[in-house]
Amino acid sequence: MQNVILERDGQLAIVTVNRPTKLNALDDQTIAELDGCIQQLSADAAVGAIILTGAGEKAFIAGADITVLAKQGVLDGRDNARRGQALTQRIEDSCKPVLAAINGFALGGGLELALACDLRFASANAKLGLPEVSLGIIPGYGGTQRLPRLVGSGVALQMILTGDPVTADEALRIGLVNGVFSQPELLVSVKAIASKMVSRGSNALALAKQAVRRGSHMSMQDGLALEADLFGVISSTTEMKEGMAAFLEKRKPAWLRG
Ligand code: COA
Repeated sequence: MQNVILERDGQLAIVTVNRPTKLNALDDQTIAELDGCIQQLSADAAVGAIILTGAGEKAFIAGADITVLAKQGVLDGRDNARRGQALTQRIEDSCKPVLAAINGFALGGGLELALACDLRFASANAKLGLPEVSLGIIPGYGGTQRLPRLVGSGVALQMILTGDPVTADEALRIGLVNGVFSQPELLVSVKAIASKMVSRGSNALALAKQAVRRGSHMSMQDGLALEADLFGVISSTTEMKEGMAAFLEKRKPAWLRG
């Protein structure tokens, strides 16, 4: 890969977008590399959780690459949006927890990638926004759909229609991020949170994520039916037997890992 660095730290996979001179802007190559990377990591039984971050101290991802967007017409504009949406959907659908470590600017497509992650943590210097209208376009990687679902349509419309970014503290206040850390502490703190997740049952993590993700598009009744079905599925696993046995025997669970 040219624009993405993949590192492993035990069961954690750290995916770093690495175009710091362009503030990690997403060109076609970077999107394709990220897409392949998330696909590969999601299928890897030895990976417990995925952390997505950006290279350098200035930017997480400063959006889609504007030099590419500037050349697009109707059809390739739609194709660009679909490629970005496919990547955000792949992140959302991953059976692993995906955490965004937002280490600076998360603008446009950068915020849209973060919105597809399960949890978002920002460095204190981060700025998060959807500035597309200031470029004469609209968000196209899922921002118009995921941002209002996360923070409510009033706050989302203010961000989308003004194009103004919010600070990390404001993002915490409106529920856009789960926590804020100093720049040097960000990655280590996100790794600690991800490590806690991977100490739990991996099938339970995958099915709990699925229940929340799929359930958010359903009626309460259908969502509860889904939850009961998935509860039935998890109840048939050796992981469940080990989790229960460990509690009753007053020991830590010894999960089977791939
Ligand atoms: N696409 C392509 N290149 C980008 C980019 C993007 N989204 N964001 C930043 N860059 C490039 C700049 O063109 C510049 O390249 P250069 O050195 O070859 O001229 C480099 O990254 C550094 O950016 P610069 O603008 O000089 O940094 P800054 O500190 O003055 O400003 C930002 C930082 C984030 C405020 C500014 O880069 C910006 O507004 N970027 C665009 C954000 C955006 O609109 N994203 C949504 C796209 S849909």
